[in-house]
This record gives sequence, structure tokens and C-alpha cells, in this order.
Amino acid sequence: MTIAPNTASGSKTATDPLQLIDVDHVRFYVGNAKQAAVFYAHTFGFQIEQVRDLTTGSRDEAAYLLTQGNIRLLLVSGLTPDHPASKEAALFGDGVKDIAFNVDDAEAAYERAISNGGESAYEPYTLSDEFGSVTYAGIQSYGRAIHSFVSRTGGYDLARIKKASMAYEPVSFAPKFRNVGEHALNTFNRKNPCGLMFVDHCVGNVEEGKMNYWVDWYENVLEFKMFKHFDDQDISTEHSALMSKVMASGNNLIKMPINEPADGKKKSQILEYLEWHNMTPGVQHLALRTNDELHSVAALRDRGVDFLEIPDTYYDIVWDRVNTMLTENGHSPVKEDHERIRELGVLVDADDEGYLLQLFTKPLQDRPTLFFEIICRRGSQSFGKGNFKALFEALELEQDKRGNL
Ligand code: FE2
Repeated sequence: MTIAPNTASGSKTATDPLQLIDVDHVRFYVGNAKQAAVFYAHTFGFQIEQVRDLTTGSRDEAAYLLTQGNIRLLLVSGLTPDHPASKEAALFGDGVKDIAFNVDDAEAAYERAISNGGESAYEPYTLSDEFGSVTYAGIQSYGRAIHSFVSRTGGYDLARIKKASMAYEPVSFAPKFRNVGEHALNTFNRKNPCGLMFVDHCVGNVEEGKMNYWVDWYENVLEFKMFKHFDDQDISTEHSALMSKVMASGNNLIKMPINEPADGKKKSQILEYLEWHNMTPGVQHLALRTNDELHSVAALRDRGVDFLEIPDTYYDIVWDRVNTMLTENGHSPVKEDHERIRELGVLVDADDEGYLLQLFTKPLQDRPTLFFEIICRRGSQSFGKGNFKALFEALELEQDKRGNL
């Protein structure tokens, strides 16, 4: 295996260097990757596929690749006190470090982003072995978050990796990894799938007054566009106390809403996040897409996932709101069993294009920072504006329990 900085400019293709092919992976920095891997595999049904640690010659960090559908999480912890993952885990707790994009040529994408005004997180480098090569290059986004560009050749081609992991075949993710092999949780998860398919969107929390700065950054540096949707107007209410705008890659592969705190009667969830995240912007939630919300939420509840509790009164008014909106726009009402939706505590929202089902987990670690959303879209491309009031009421109950309201 060779590790070499990239000096040659490589063969530039005719394609746009910032055209994103896929979300390559989402990299977390955690305090203990081995234990975090079991947590996410048990509670969310991920396969623990690959590992890189002392047993593979990695002496500074341990990394676990977890997969489900087209979702790849890379959980990384430092093995030495000066590793960045050790430092950031101390500062921020467990959380997302990197939303990594698969591109045709990582170095070309990096150079374009830098020439667009982006700041380097790390310089391009390539890892290669007898199976192929993977090139990485990183740019700095809001706060502690970065975006890596990843390009792959040979056996490390992402389409190949994706196909293999969807068929539950061992994958070779990158040089220096080895297959975990048989694992009791993997066997259980293959028999009891949770149905999570891909990352629908990734939400960032930034400081008050900085939302428009980061909207411009995504537009200029990554050449994203403002995503037009039903709820892209002001979503600030007396309950919500946040402002949000949604940026999307040119092909809508990934949507990245950006939140900032706004003045409200009570402390906003965005401010609470920042206060427990060293006043540093970062990823607030990852929305994972399913095609069967009721199955996924039931399976995750059985595994012990802690979801936000939705007040029962929510269901007294939701059907009138949602089904009226759908009928007025010529759509059929919500087809999922309404009583089952209430039992599972799932949220529903509609717009002129259809509806969506969604539910938010509680924070995934001790600090009230990162959480997941489980989302199913039936035509709607928005983010559940109608649920914001209900969500904030539920969130405020949680904040109150933590003494942070
Ligand atoms: Fe969301």
C-alpha cells in the first residue's frame, strides 16, 4: 500500500468538478468507536462492516464503517490524546465531523472549492493498494464541520461498494480496512431490517446572525442552490425561535438546511445545542429516509430508540389540517393507518405536492446535540413546517426536564 500526496493534477474530465455523485459517507468523531458501533448497529439496525484499528496497523485512530441501504457512517475515535478526534470528543462530545461527497475527481473538486473562496481542511492525498485507490481532500464548513471530497478507482468504486453492501456482501471500503466478518448483531439485523435507505438531508446549526453567511458560502463555494419548497418562507413562530434556509446540491442529491437561533419567549433549541457544543456550529440532525415510516419507527422503537414524545393532543387536530390540505390540492388523504400513526407517535405534514411522515429521536449522546430524523416522503419535498409548533412544544418539554429552559 502506498500513501502519497497528490502532485499531479490528474486527468480532468469534462464534467463539472463539483458535481456530486453521492454522499460517500458521514464521518463521526466519537469517544469510543468500538462501543458506538454497537450502539448504532443495535438501535438503528446498521451492519458493522469494516474496521481499521490497531489490528490493521492503524496506531492513531480506530474507525468502524456501518452501513444500511445507501447510508455509510464512519465512526472514528482517537487512540492518542493529540488525535483530532480525541480533542473534538472532549470539546463537543460525540457528533458529526464530515459530510463526505463522492465526486469524479477529489482533487479537482477541492481546487474548484478553494478557488471559489473555500478554506482547506486538509490537502489532497491518495491511499492505494492492490485493489485500487481512494483520494481524499477536505474543505472547512461551518464550525467544526468539514466536507471531504472522495474519489475512488478500481475495487474501491462507490457503486460497487454500494451494491455489495446492499446485498450484505463484504465490502472493501478503503485501504487499511478489514472486514469485521460474522457478528451476531449483523446476523440479527439482516433478518430484522429497519428499512433506512439514504441520507435525505443534513441540518446545521450556526450562530445567531450567521445563517445568510453560510447560505452564501454554500452557494459560492460548493455551487449549491437555494432549495425552493413549500416551507421556505419565514418559519419563526413564538414557539420555534429559529430561522432556517435550505441549500441543495445542483442535482438535489443532498439538502442542507441551515438554522440560526432567533429571539423567542424561551431558549431556542438551536441556542441550547450551541451552548452544549462549545458555542461552535455543527450538524444538528441527519434525516434518514425510509419508504415505510411505520415499519421503521416500530422496528426502531423495539430496539430501544428514544424518540421525542408527541403530545396526544397533536392527533386531535392533525387529520383535519393534513387531509384538508391534501384534498384541496387534488391528492388522496394519508394512506397509512391513522390509529397506528398515533400509537407510534409519528408526525405528519402536507403541502401542495403531497405529504410526509417524520419523527425525531432524542439526542444520541449525553449532550443535547446530534439527533436523527426518520422521514418518509409521499410527494412532499418540504421539511415539516406544520410540525414545527408541535415539535417545539415537545422539545421544550424535554429541555425543561434537563433544566435548560
Ligand atoms: Fe429535518
